[in-house]
Formats: sequence, C-alpha cells, structure tokens
Amino acid sequence: MRILVTGGAGFIGSHTLLALIEQGHEVACVDNFSNAERFIPQRVMELAQSSFPVFETDVSTWGALDAVVKQWGKVDGIIHFAALKAVGESVAQPLQYYHNNLVSLLEVQRAMQEYQIPNLVFSSSCTVYGTPKQLPVNELAPLQEAESPYGWTKRMGEQMLKDAVGANNGLKVCLLRYFNPIGAQPGGRIGELAKGVPNNLVPFITQTAIGLRQELKVFGNDYDTPDGTCIRDYIHVCDLADAHVAALEYLSQSSEPLSVFNVGTGKGMSVLEAISAFERATGVKLPYRFAPRRSGDVEKIWADPAKIMSTLGWKPKHSMEDAMRDAWRWEQTLATERKG
Ligand code: WQD
Repeated sequence: MRILVTGGAGFIGSHTLLALIEQGHEVACVDNFSNAERFIPQRVMELAQSSFPVFETDVSTWGALDAVVKQWGKVDGIIHFAALKAVGESVAQPLQYYHNNLVSLLEVQRAMQEYQIPNLVFSSSCTVYGTPKQLPVNELAPLQEAESPYGWTKRMGEQMLKDAVGANNGLKVCLLRYFNPIGAQPGGRIGELAKGVPNNLVPFITQTAIGLRQELKVFGNDYDTPDGTCIRDYIHVCDLADAHVAALEYLSQSSEPLSVFNVGTGKGMSVLEAISAFERATGVKLPYRFAPRRSGDVEKIWADPAKIMSTLGWKPKHSMEDAMRDAWRWEQTLATERKG
C-alpha cells in the first residue's frame, strides 16, 4: 500500500515509517519539523536502504495536504501522528494545542474526502480512560473527562472520527490507544528526541544515567500499589510501530468502519520496577530519590490487549529490558553526536 505518514519525523512516526518499509509498503513522510529533526527521516532511509519523499508541511494549515497528494499521487491510507503532545505545555497553551491537534485532524479528513483516501489510523492514548474503575482496562471501559487540553484533543479527535465515520460511507478508521511508548530502534540510530527537560520517565532515566541530569525524582511513593509508586504499561516503540502496520493491513481488508484497539503489553510496571529493569539491562546504577506526587498522575493503569491480539494477530515482541537497553543505546548515540 501507499501510506502517507504525518508526523513521520517524530518518535513513533519514524519507527512506523521504518516498519512500513520493512513490511513492503511505500511511504511518504509529512512533518513541519516544529518538534522533530530533519536527520531522522534521513536515518530511516539509511536503515531501510531505500528513499522516500519528505514533505515539510504543517498539516494544521487548511489545504496543506493538497500539494502533497498532488505531488505524490495515489494514497491508500494515512497514519496521522502529527500533534503536540506535552501535557504540561498544553495546560499553559491550550489554544495552540486545540488548534494544532484538531485542525490537523480536520485537514486530514478533508484531504481523505477530496482524494478518496479510504483508510486512517489515528494516534489516540490511554489518557482517554482517565482513572479506570477496572484493571486491566479494555476498549469498552467508559471514557472519562480529560485532565489536560492535550487529553481533550485525543478525546475530541476520537469523537470527530466517530461522527465522520457515521456520516461518510467509505471512510474506515482505526483508533489506536497507546499506553506508554518507550525504547528505540535496537541499533540506536533513531529514538525519542526530548525537547528541554524530559517530562516522560524513560528519557529522564537515560539522561540521568548519562550525566545530563543529577538524579531522577520518583513522583510519589505513597500510592496504593505494591511498592507505593505509580504503575504503567510500557510498550516498546518498535512493537507499537508494528501495531500500526497491522492496523492498516486490517483496515484495507475489513468492512468495519471504526475499530478501536488498546496497544499495550498487558503488564503493569511500577516506577521502581522500571528503574530496576533499566539497571539490569544496562548495568548502570541510577541515582534517584522520592519526591512529592506529580499533579494529574493516574495511580495505576495497564492495558487489556486481548482485542488487538485476537483481531490483528499482533503481539509485543520486546521486553522491558529490551526497551531500556535500546533507549540507553540511543542516549549514547546522542551523546557521541553531541561531542562530535
Ligand atoms: C510515567 C510514570 C510518573 C517522570 C504521558 C501522557 C500520556 C502519554 C504518555 C503522550 C508516572 C513517573 C515520570 C519523572 C517519575 N502520551 N515519573 N519521574 O504520565 O504515564 O503518560 O506520556 O504522548 O498521555 O500523559 O508518562 O513517562 O510522564 O510517567 O516518577 O521524572 O513515571 O509519575 O508514574 P505518563 P510519564
């Protein structure tokens, strides 16, 4: 298939481009490079040993995809990653988040209608479940009010797509609700580029281990969990990338207009367990201390991935140690490049 990947220079987008090419698809990358580097798509090309077009385009500009589709030609599907994703920043700049994340999704749908592109995979998030009443959480769990404008853009994005599918014969959409994506391409050539001080746990761990940060603060040790720290479902970015390929292949063959899948491992892991996994995988001792709870953190959440496993035949192949080792290798790549 010929797949357009918006946000293809980002963390999940770049790994998905690679997975798509490796599984025989043709790709084009669209990115405005506001939060991504130009060398990333180049590295994907090196890894894949093939080239693809890269369009420097802001998808949140109305009409932006016209030139892309006119230039690249027939498109069978779009994977729409392009979005702002920093939870804290979204609280400080809500309009920017609503504008960027929602107008881009509208523009994607406009182009799909205009050029009869049938298949869309949308990046949603486990954040739509808020604090789930039952664990593991499955796709039928009620959605809750979002904790941040970022979270609302995911809820609203899902709703917009549900309405669009209801009205438009021919549009097929897959919502993937990601749990916590971590790790990097195993060779350490591409990975997550955290802007400024990382908000997310694993980039903070690897930056601390390499000496860019003094110590990790573990936010809260008085939660109602076995060791008192929060529990999440960490998923290797390469497994997540494979889930996108599987979702597209499923969409192209299915008559189901809207499908929703959790993408997680089904295993909950505490912050302290994540630190131990990092230390085991890398042999590096991590300096950390307990700090007060971070506002907005859910105590515990992990996925029930039964639906994606049975429907798409997808399953995670990488362990937490694999993810930590790969994230560490990527941090070392960055350190070497900073020196050079
Ligand atoms: C994980 C755990 C922290 C940093 C966010 C978004 C979500 C999704 C993924 C984004 C928590 C603890 C963290 C630190 C810590 N989508 N922690 N010290 O909050 O589960 O999810 O990212 O694009 O929508 O909300 O991920 O990695 O920030 O935190 O103790 O310095 O690590 O409290 O328990 P989170 P995270």
